[in-house]
Amino acid sequence: MAKTYDYLFKLLLIGDSGVGKTCLLFRFSEDAFNTTFISTIGIDFKIRTIELNGKRVKLQIWDTAGQERFRTITTAYYRGAMHASSDVEMMILGNKCDMTERRQVSKDRGEKVAIDFGVKFLETSAKSSLNVKEAFYTLGRDIMHNLNTKITDSNPPGGSGPVKITEKKSKRIKFFKCTLL
Ligand code: GTP
Ligand code: MG
Repeated sequence: MAKTYDYLFKLLLIGDSGVGKTCLLFRFSEDAFNTTFISTIGIDFKIRTIELNGKRVKLQIWDTAGQERFRTITTAYYRGAMHASSDVEMMILGNKCDMTERRQVSKDRGEKVAIDFGVKFLETSAKSSLNVKEAFYTLGRDIMHNLNTKITDSNPPGGSGPVKITEKKSKRIKFFKCTLL
């Protein structure tokens, strides 16, 4: 059967319970929002295929439970993910930015934390949709950029040595992480 995508990226949403991980994923995958809080049990995932630089990129997005009692299960997932690659692409999202009256973290503080970790930062709202699509697309684009850089580095133009990374390997399954403040 013909493959329906060029790349498969695995993303992981992590963060405390109630910050809005499931809602962000629901907004991104179904373009909908729910005000009822149904805390995630263990781990769940959704798939959405997007187009990036003319390539079909299948995003497999894992939604982890933020509750402490599921920590053993969820950390097993992202520990595996971290071990899969030392150069995991990360991003910090400050969600619920529509709740201006009850803001917990200033934009400045969020940006500073992201700079300290050397990752990108976006304020999002699963409720209003602000930056939700942008967050997933930005992460996807950065992952693809990373991947292409690696392929170019190991196959310099005009190089006469053996090709180190095959097209097949370049599309190997990798994990990438998205963090919520
Ligand atoms: P766990 O599954 O327990 O880890 O929580 P979670 O991070 O998945 O939180 P969830 O997405 O279930 O959202 C928790 C509550 O916050 C729900 O009542 C949502 O309606 C609300 N919520 C999520 N995102 C937003 C947002 O962007 N704005 C507002 N105003 N409320 C939000
Ligand atoms: Mg959840």
